[in-house]
Order: sequence, then structure tokens, then C-alpha cells
Amino acid sequence: MSRPEHNPKGATSFYNKKEALKYSTNNKMKQTQSILSKRAIQLLQIPAGVNGLILDIGCGSGFSHQKLLREGHLIVGTDINRTMLDESVRHTTNRLNRAKYNSNNNNNNIRNKTYGIADLIESDMGDGLGFRRNIFDGVISISALQWLCYPSKRHKGNNTKKKKKKKKYNSGNDNNVNPHGVEERLKRFFRTLRTCLRKKAKAVLQFYPETAIDCYKICKIANEVGFNGGLLVDYPAHMDGKKYYLVISFDG
Ligand SMILES: C[S@@+](CC[C@H](N)C(=O)[O-])C[C@H]1O[C@@H](n2cnc3c(N)ncnc32)[C@H](O)[C@@H]1O
Repeated sequence: MSRPEHNPKGATSFYNKKEALKYSTNNKMKQTQSILSKRAIQLLQIPAGVNGLILDIGCGSGFSHQKLLREGHLIVGTDINRTMLDESVRHTTNRLNRAKYNSNNNNNNIRNKTYGIADLIESDMGDGLGFRRNIFDGVISISALQWLCYPSKRHKGNNTKKKKKKKKYNSGNDNNVNPHGVEERLKRFFRTLRTCLRKKAKAVLQFYPETAIDCYKICKIANEVGFNGGLLVDYPAHMDGKKYYLVISFDG
């Protein structure tokens, strides 16, 4: 089966209005994202009773942070795709309206519950995460990180232009690194993730690697920028059902 990551125009075009609506109204998708994020939250090991500031990278329609919101955490969600973020706003608004409705109808269980708040930012994780130092108590990412293993479609035009220029003016040995190449984007992502994550707090990144090399590359770069931890695989004996979680922290 072809993967969304093979789409020639990238994630911003793949999840167009029709696809984003199809995704966000698909119960199976919702269920899968909820199960994966539940596991990721368990691996975050946030102490009970603590309401933290949690980053959800590639948050899409927001299925992945609904449980965190119900637990009262503050969420910052980022995604490269504005249409997917619009779906997330729609979900959160619906949820709040339902809570309001239930509280108006004197359902005490719901009235006494504290719901978290989500702020959403349109950004490409391969450009780096532009947050201040040590601010997040935990980071999750559900089914998004594998996109960084493919050349950025956003920068395709720029690369071609640069290559043409280089050919014209640069005849000698050329060791220039492509700032939009896969490795550079992964490095920038992990470096900036390390910056904004509190010391000893965890990042749990669930992803779908296409090849063992992708998996190796992700783990190697996370390790090179100073993260401890590694890969956890659920259902390792399943041919197609393996679930990969990179569980890392920076201990300073
Ligand atoms: C399978 S969806 C998962 C969405 C989300 N976890 C949820 O619960 O709905 C993958 C998401 O990754 C986002 N994505 C892909 N490449 C990205 C990038 N470079 N930076 C940020 N988000 C990206 C896509 O736009 C999409 O919303």
C-alpha cells in the first residue's frame, strides 16, 4: 500500500480539505490515534496530580491530545498543515460545548472536571521547534515523525535553484550540506527538541518507519544530539502491527 509520505506534494497538500475531513471523521483513525497516544502518555510517566505543559508535535486533528486535555494538562500542538489544525479546533470546540451542555444539565461528574487548554501553531518540525529553553514537562508525537525521513517537499523548488546556481559558480570540490536534506532536518528537529524539553522530562515519539534504515537514522541522530533512551517496540512479533516508540530524555 502506498504511504501518504510518498505523496509528491508532501503533508501540506496530502491533507487537503477533503482528506483532512475524511481523516478527522474516521472512527478507526480516531480509535488508533487514541490507543497510540494513551500508550505514549503512559510512557511519559507524568506524576499523578501534576498538570503539565505538554507539546504534541504533528498533532493534526488533535486526536492525540484529547486524553491529555481531559486530564487537565496544557497543550501546545504543532502541525505543518493548517487544514488539519482547523479540524483540531473544531474537535476541541465540540468537546467544550458538550462539557458546557452537560454542566448546564447538572451532571456533577463533568461539572467538577478541569479541562486543559490547547494552543495550536502551524509549523514544520524539520525547521526546528522555536520554543524557549526547558519549558515542556513532556512531549508526544503520534504518527508524524516518519515524515522527516523523506525529502522536504516545501523546499524542493529552492533546492533546484541552489543546485543550478552552484553549477554555474562553483566548479571545485563541493562539501556544502543541504540545509533542507533529511539528515539536517532530523538534526535540527532533535536539537531544538532537546532545548525546549525540561531536563529529565520525556519525549515519546511514536512513528511508522518505512525501512530499518529510517529507524536507525532517527535513533542515531537523537543519540548524537545528546538524548538518552531508545526505541521501544510493542507487538514485536507482528509482521505489520509493530508499534515503534522512541522514548528519550536529556539528563543534562
Ligand atoms: C497521521 S497524522 C497524525 C495526526 C495526529 N497525531 C492526530 O492525532 O490526529 C500525521 C500528521 O503529521 C503532520 N506532519 C507531517 N509532516 C510534518 C512536519 N514536517 N511538521 C509538522 N507536522 C507534520 C501532518 O500534517 C499530519 O497532520
